[in-house]
Amino acid sequence: MSEKTSGPVEVSLEKDKNYAWCTCGYTENEPFCDSSHRKHNATPSLKFSVSEEKTAFLCSCKKTSNPPYCDGSHNG
Ligand code: FES
Repeated sequence: MSEKTSGPVEVSLEKDKNYAWCTCGYTENEPFCDSSHRKHNATPSLKFSVSEEKTAFLCSCKKTSNPPYCDGSHNG
């Protein structure tokens, strides 16, 4: 896992669409997986979807205890 510590990324999520949240930190497309984990032999993405359209703040520091959502862990 990389050591970058960046804050949440605001995204608009569509109902029932399949998303892949990057868990490894190597993606060039935060907060989503771009398959970079394969080159680094890292943990693959977390697949998720939402039951209603919403704006969410997704974790990009990968320290959240509530993936894929930011829980403020990037602050400390
Ligand atoms: S690029 Fe990080 S999980 Fe796929």
